Amino acid sequence: MEFFNENLIKEKEDCPHFYSPITAVIRNRRSIYADRYYKKEIPAHELEEILTNATWAPTHKMTEPWRFIILSDEQQVDYGNYMFNYHKDRYYDLPEVKRTVKFEYLKNYPLNAACIVAVVFQKNSQLLPEWEEIAAISCAVQNMALTCTALNIGSYWASGGAAVDYVKTLGLTDREQSFGLFFMGYYDLSQKPVTKRRTAIAEKVIGLKHI
Ligand SMILES: Cc1cc2nc3c(=O)[nH]c(=O)nc-3n(C[C@H](O)[C@H](O)[C@H](O)COP(=O)(O)O)c2cc1C
Repeated sequence: MEFFNENLIKEKEDCPHFYSPITAVIRNRRSIYADRYYKKEIPAHELEEILTNATWAPTHKMTEPWRFIILSDEQQVDYGNYMFNYHKDRYYDLPEVKRTVKFEYLKNYPLNAACIVAVVFQKNSQLLPEWEEIAAISCAVQNMALTCTALNIGSYWASGGAAVDYVKTLGLTDREQSFGLFFMGYYDLSQKPVTKRRTAIAEKVIGLKHI
């Protein structure tokens, strides 16, 4: 596979039945955080591909319960300041120098992201139970993450208080809810991301034969 990053997983022991190309994409997806990004723009057609793939997520009754807002460069700077203000009281017990470093880290944290997308949940609860709608928007975000992996772009979904509250400042309607921010950015592919091991399917799946 051309796009497959050689430094990431291709271990047969992890995946003895490594037949399908989608398996490589799924298992190579890692949450890559913004402090690992270096500044580089995502080509417009790739960003369009990522967002279009989000909209190809399955939705019951085709409610498409999402809206995405791409933060502008100014909003990325604004979000860094927002994070700083959000957390600044938490570090009062740190020595002055460490506090300054922490504050600079917070302000600069989003700046190298290639793109930050606000994830907005649109409720259509008259039609469907909310869990179905949340499941659908989660599929949409996962489609973005997998497309990023296939394009060698790091990504992760930020659902911390600052991310969720920042999205609320972007003008949501009464029937919309903030689901945080989806970060995308380029990173050094030679630095293998942390692989968080998954529980064996034998412990999670009942009824599978021949394991
Ligand atoms: C809905 C959702 C919200 C998440 N929010 C955060 C977050 O706020 N901060 C964070 O560091 N990681 C967040 N993550 C990433 C998880 O920590 C990560 O997926 C998990 O540790 C497994 O690592 P992996 O994605 O590299 O496989 C979130 C993941 C999901 C699915």
